[in-house]
Amino acid sequence: MRVTGFLRGLALLFTLVTTWFFATAYFRHGSVKSVNLRSWLGSNDVPTKAAKVRNKCGNENSCPENTFAFKIISGAANVVGPSICLEGIVFMSAVKNNIDRGLNIALVNGTNGHLIKMATFDMYAGDIKDLVKFLEGINEGSLVLIASYDDPGSKMNDDARKLLTDLGSSYATKLGFRDNWVFIGGKGLKGKSPFEQYLKNDKDANKYDGWPEVLELEGCVPQKMG
Ligand SMILES: *[C@@H]1O[C@H](CO)[C@@H](O)[C@H](O)[C@H]1NC(C)=O
Repeated sequence: MRVTGFLRGLALLFTLVTTWFFATAYFRHGSVKSVNLRSWLGSNDVPTKAAKVRNKCGNENSCPENTFAFKIISGAANVVGPSICLEGIVFMSAVKNNIDRGLNIALVNGTNGHLIKMATFDMYAGDIKDLVKFLEGINEGSLVLIASYDDPGSKMNDDARKLLTDLGSSYATKLGFRDNWVFIGGKGLKGKSPFEQYLKNDKDANKYDGWPEVLELEGCVPQKMG
């Protein structure tokens, strides 16, 4: 059932994409006929498009002064690893080969954006004491960037939930088996962080059989948030 539905969806998507592709190709070609004198003479149009800048971390928008551009992507099921980028630097990713199932955490100096340290915590088979110790050791003024992969919740305990909540998390209390979670918090942050997404592992709503959809969080985090 599920597989047929998936294939049907895939076929529909394929149709839509090819339709769109041919439509745009046609219209682009069509507009050549109504080309105006200016572009005929080779001025602007094309160069403007080519000059489009690539924002840090490949983000949609550029970031204002006194903020750090970030992008955090959770793992996809237990197949594709997560990634954590700040100010155009990918700290953790599958390509860097420094991620693991569980929680992937990068600590950054909230003033200058420099990496302090990175760590991964296996939340299925690991020792939760390691995570608690790591969270307790975070200094004031640190930004904490977290991406889940596969299972961020099995070994979670009250101590770890409390420490993550103190960093500004709204969902740390809920994290469970195979949920997805991306988060930026700060040590010493008063109130809740606005930079967080959470998806519960829910058989009826999951995109993949055993896991929810990938989460992607990007934007500009204020300096000194931590
Ligand atoms: C961040 O860097 C500044 C120097 O730029 C330093 O004084 C401060 O202690 C650092 N903070 C953390 C949390 O590492």
